[in-house]
Amino acid sequence: MAHEKIETRAAWKGSEIDYRTEMMHRFTDTEVAEIDAALKSVGDSDIPAITRDSFVLPTMGPTLNRLRDELLDGRGVVLLRGFPRDRYSADDMARVYIGLGAHLGRPLAQSWQGQLLGSVIDISDVVEKVRGYNAGGGQHFHIDGSACDIVSLMCLRAAKSGGASRIVSVAALYNHLADTRPDLLDVLVRGYYHRNHELDAQHSLSPAQSVERIPVFGQRDGRISCVIDTGCLRYAVHHGGVKLSEAEVEAFDLMQRVAQTEEFFLDMNFEEGDIQFLNNRSIMHGRTNYEDHDDVSRRRHMLRLWLHVPEWPARPADQIFMTLEDCHHWVKRRTPYMDMPTKYLATLQAEQEERRRAQTVMPRQAPSQRYRSAADWQPEPQVAVG
Ligand SMILES: [Fe+2]
Repeated sequence: MAHEKIETRAAWKGSEIDYRTEMMHRFTDTEVAEIDAALKSVGDSDIPAITRDSFVLPTMGPTLNRLRDELLDGRGVVLLRGFPRDRYSADDMARVYIGLGAHLGRPLAQSWQGQLLGSVIDISDVVEKVRGYNAGGGQHFHIDGSACDIVSLMCLRAAKSGGASRIVSVAALYNHLADTRPDLLDVLVRGYYHRNHELDAQHSLSPAQSVERIPVFGQRDGRISCVIDTGCLRYAVHHGGVKLSEAEVEAFDLMQRVAQTEEFFLDMNFEEGDIQFLNNRSIMHGRTNYEDHDDVSRRRHMLRLWLHVPEWPARPADQIFMTLEDCHHWVKRRTPYMDMPTKYLATLQAEQEERRRAQTVMPRQAPSQRYRSAADWQPEPQVAVG
């Protein structure tokens, strides 16, 4: 199969990029003042009430529009830096985050529980059978759910050390594979079966497992689109009767290995208050290992948004597994303020104290470090929740 290479600004190598000059927007004093005024106008609103119309940004709004174009047709990565984190409560930081995000797209529910604002924090010693974003350690490269066009993180609290966001350009990776291993690129383009996390599947309108293979790479109008949710590939082997061929294992491992080379990846360190936006089709993300604090309230804590951008051309239809309809269905379960950081952390702190008293604190987990190769994925007798 001939592979048409992508020769746009979307194809970049981490070793050749300084994100501070090419991907970063530093807030001006005027912008901070404008955001502060918008925050005052929404008061103690809950997330759904914060929209493009209620969070008015006369000058920052057009800037965000320009940055969104950079996500679609530029490097695919934008970091906003310099917001004065220390002046605001965690919940007001969340409101600022939603307010800025609402100018880029529409927030989507991130699981069957309906949270519009995810908390990426290691609570694997406090809550049983957590999902990847609630465990610690490094993460393999992946793309988040296919309904999401822009995936974003805000750093509420940085790690004791480490925990950088590690990103890679899908186009650069694709071009490299086309040059060096077109045979394995064919395997990736043919794709993999995906299986949803069990609880998401129980509460979804879509089938638990994809009926067809989902192509890892697709192209439309000269833009690349990637789907590789490592967890979903793994669940299909663990619980869905899928057996990967040798070539499928080799192709998956090669893609991860190339992405993990210093030539290709870019590490972005987070300062508190930083907001990162990624094109969830053209940028794969993971993170480096990190050292964390013991108290839940002091741990590395990132807020996460999934944004749907109606103004963007749709993802290729054969790459859609998690649908917008599923996300709209999940959000019905959301209860007021449940995903605001203060309420969320208070529940976890109480749980941690209770476990300390009862001496039932569990060892912390770093699930992606369990698997060095897709060959390590094996069928599991029990349906896992994690
Ligand atoms: Fe992710």
